[in-house]
Amino acid sequence: MSITMMLMDAIHEDPANLRAHPESNINAIRASLKEFGQQKPIVVDQGGKIVAGNGTFKAAVALGWKRIAAVKTKLEGIKSVAYAIADNRIAELATWETELAGVLDELRKDDSIDIGSIGFDDADIDALLGDLATEQDHGGSSSDRDIADLPKDERSDLVMAPFPYFGNKRKVIPLVWKRFGRPKQYIEPFCGSAAMLLGSYHVAKLEVINDLSGFIANFWRSVKHQPEKVAEFADYPVSHLDFRMRENALVAKVKELAGGLADPDWPGDAKVAGWWCLGQCSDIGLSYCSTDSASHQLATTVQGLDCSGSKPHIKGQRLTSNTAISDPRSLFDTLGTRIKRVKVLHGTWDRSMWFNDAPNDVAVFFDPPYRSYDDVYRDEVTVVLDDIVSWCKEHSDCRIALCGHDGDYDLSGWDVVQWDKGGATVSGSTKNKSNEAIWFSPGCLDG
Ligand SMILES: C[S@@+](CC[C@H](N)C(=O)[O-])C[C@H]1O[C@@H](n2cnc3c(N)ncnc32)[C@H](O)[C@@H]1O
Repeated sequence: MSITMMLMDAIHEDPANLRAHPESNINAIRASLKEFGQQKPIVVDQGGKIVAGNGTFKAAVALGWKRIAAVKTKLEGIKSVAYAIADNRIAELATWETELAGVLDELRKDDSIDIGSIGFDDADIDALLGDLATEQDHGGSSSDRDIADLPKDERSDLVMAPFPYFGNKRKVIPLVWKRFGRPKQYIEPFCGSAAMLLGSYHVAKLEVINDLSGFIANFWRSVKHQPEKVAEFADYPVSHLDFRMRENALVAKVKELAGGLADPDWPGDAKVAGWWCLGQCSDIGLSYCSTDSASHQLATTVQGLDCSGSKPHIKGQRLTSNTAISDPRSLFDTLGTRIKRVKVLHGTWDRSMWFNDAPNDVAVFFDPPYRSYDDVYRDEVTVVLDDIVSWCKEHSDCRIALCGHDGDYDLSGWDVVQWDKGGATVSGSTKNKSNEAIWFSPGCLDG
């Protein structure tokens, strides 16, 4: 294999390249090339088309390089395509040792190294250090058993969504996490207010949330990337005038949001997120901006006849208080820090159903619309639920929780736990008026 310095002009990118290089990725490669120089060649075919190293080439162009070190491969056709995929995929399969957090922490204190050139930023390193601390808090073992003993109803570290949400599952956080333990990957395909993620006892290596609602997905995406801005737009007095006018403006943005959210690096629209949060906090039906907006009213009955000038409760889960929280920025900041490394997706549930770890290391919290809402969703729910049940049966080694009404599912070998919306968790009790149940897969830990 011989490495040659080739003129950049003699090289071109593969138009069919399957690997996307968002700006953040190119910036990191640029910083790395600047800091370390080019330490390994790119791979091009005999005609100068890049087979491996498209990102490096783009970064080199951005740096104004005239030449680049390259190896010419004899691979061509399907072999060349396969190698290009292998080059990226195989690197993805490696995992980091836990010592990484400490080493990065040392490196960022060293002025002679630009930490951005390593591809990590301060928030990434803080999150890794946080994971490590969580592991150590629980005895430094990766066993699930210790965490299973932790659940308690009131937790000082519990972060909540700043808006109330229909079907919110806060009440069953201990019930679920006791059976999930410490998965390596956590997926919440119907996230809504993401109560289960936010209530987790453990930060998984990879956490993914998804929702079909663009407003929900945009909210979490924006809080992840720009919590301060979202706080700024959400922290505003409630007024009848703005309530409906803003709802119309937001609904008109649905398509634009979907377009932005399709790009995993899009930071969200903070203004839409803040306005939506404020509206959702003020909407008596808890479905601000849904297409059925005829039913929407400002929550005047619980907030006083003229609530102009007051602020939404923002933090609470009930529409019974119009007290503004004292420091919305710090609330959004806390949320932003918690979800900094969470992947926020927008689409149907199946978009998020991908995992790399062994099935038993993966936890999935399914909280889809219930069967009884089929008429509201025009028969779509049954189709979705049937697909989910098939997925569940096929993946029962995963730690899965599936929410529904008692009797909704017939999953043999799964543990069904009833709970009551109105009060504390009950199991098989006659006190259960709300008919709620959760199906736990055989892959879950014992309750
Ligand atoms: C019952 S709510 C989830 C509540 C959530 N567990 C919480 O604690 O707030 C169901 C969510 O599923 C979303 N949804 C409905 N159909 C969907 C689909 N086919 N794929 C993904 N999300 C969907 C809705 O937008 C809604 O946010």
